[in-house]
Amino acid sequence: METTLIILKPDAVQRGLMGRIIARFEEKGLQIVGCKMMQIPRSLAETHYEAHKTKGFYAGLVGFMTSSPVLVMAVRGNGAITIARNMMGATFGSKANPGTIRGDFGVSNSFNLIHGSDSPEAAERELKLFFQPGEVLSFERAGDRWVYDMSGGKPE
Ligand code: RTP
Ligand code: MG
Repeated sequence: METTLIILKPDAVQRGLMGRIIARFEEKGLQIVGCKMMQIPRSLAETHYEAHKTKGFYAGLVGFMTSSPVLVMAVRGNGAITIARNMMGATFGSKANPGTIRGDFGVSNSFNLIHGSDSPEAAERELKLFFQPGEVLSFERAGDRWVYDMSGGKPE
């Protein structure tokens, strides 16, 4: 099972889209194993997006991410990192396909509603940045045996 870091960005919170976006992950069968609201401190936003430090959009991105509260989630499932990225859609709302979160809920390129880790290494790093030990939970859901085919001993 993989766990990925999802952030519902300030525009998603301000536009009242948290519930609808969370519902998509739950309906898909992914498990929310950590969840909290926070206003991201500047230093944390800078560290989180440090790979983009040299890009022209970096200052605006850090400003946006710290401008208003966000909701951060740890989301778990078999292949959760790629599944979540596909559900998010392309980076720019103007280009994201219908049926994706960015494609359905936004038109802006920089106010693009949601962040998701893009690799297992990124997920491990980012989950540690946003969640303290013990804040990401492990628990069985009553319906899990109908989410995955476990007849082969592993989730299919
Ligand atoms: P994220 O990291 O937030 O999940 O987004 P992403 O992987 O789809 O895109 P990435 O290339 O990592 O860019 C991070 C965020 O920076 C803003 N951005 N603006 N104006 C621009 O050219 C531009 N490019 C990127 C977006 O908010 C993007 O999500
Ligand atoms: Mg990214």
